[in-house]
Amino acid sequence: MIPVLIDCDPGQDDALALLLALGSPELDVIGVTAVAGNQTLDKTTLNALRVLELAGRSDIPVAAGAERPLVGELVVAADAHGETGLDGVNLPPPSARAVPEHAKDFLAARLEASEVPVTLVALGPLTNVALLLEDHPRATARIERIVLMGGAVNEGNQTPSAEFNIWIDPEAAARVFESGLDVTMVGLDVTNKAVLANADADGLRGAGPVAEAAADMIDFYLGFYNEAYDHGGAPIHDAVALAHVFRSDLLTVESRRVDVDTSDGICRGRTVVDMRLRTSGPEPNAHVAVDIDADGFRSLLLERLRAFSPTSRAASRLTS
Ligand code: BDR
Ligand code: CA
Repeated sequence: MIPVLIDCDPGQDDALALLLALGSPELDVIGVTAVAGNQTLDKTTLNALRVLELAGRSDIPVAAGAERPLVGELVVAADAHGETGLDGVNLPPPSARAVPEHAKDFLAARLEASEVPVTLVALGPLTNVALLLEDHPRATARIERIVLMGGAVNEGNQTPSAEFNIWIDPEAAARVFESGLDVTMVGLDVTNKAVLANADADGLRGAGPVAEAAADMIDFYLGFYNEAYDHGGAPIHDAVALAHVFRSDLLTVESRRVDVDTSDGICRGRTVVDMRLRTSGPEPNAHVAVDIDADGFRSLLLERLRAFSPTSRAASRLTS
């Protein structure tokens, strides 16, 4: 089993990534941290707790982290994810509360307590991760690798130049790419190629409360994507990054130099990826996802969601 810590800002696609992680025997989720991003920190933390409750895994500790980016004010994505951050699905309130530690301290403690190096999966703005790197360098040495959803070689979704997670906190992202750690960037170039449609959500119906809740999330997310984009469905961005941790065959990655634009111009938050090896200076600092087995990813996600055992009290309350 691969031990993972998941930093996220749920978010329907974060929630689906969490469910994929919890429904996958290849992974051992040893903690979840929340960051402000898709919604404010109180909402993303509550949503993480609600998803764990749904999955019957309220034993997994959740810690809340940064309320705002390192620089500037928070901008949330209510247009995509709704006012709660997890609109479209009615999850009961969680029985567990967040632990009292800040996410950066919680992550450090979990890393240091682990007997083996841990994979850190970052599915939101990179504020918590940057604070961890700054405050806990010793714990950072226990990170096996960082797999992050964010950025792109060729496109943007928050602006024409920049992807949401990186645009929200470019200074944090720059620190992560410059950390010298093993970083994998799973960006829009691949996530936008693997979309789900209403028929996929329909296929989850009747397969138990977790699958039903997942179908509700997918349907809500599709409402936004069908209006805002022409991808032909909803990309489940964060679940692609999560899947890569235990199904590396699904993505093609190349070792490349990634720099984050932290200027205040129109390219703020852009991940500048040296695909053609134009710079003779700095060495590659990331594995960059450039292609995806879209059918393989969709099958994996939908199979694991359909197979999820409805063990939790919350899940059974949803069916009653
Ligand atoms: C990323 O931004 C968020 O809205 C999603 O949860 C995902 O992490 C996609 O750009
Ligand atoms: Ca996210």
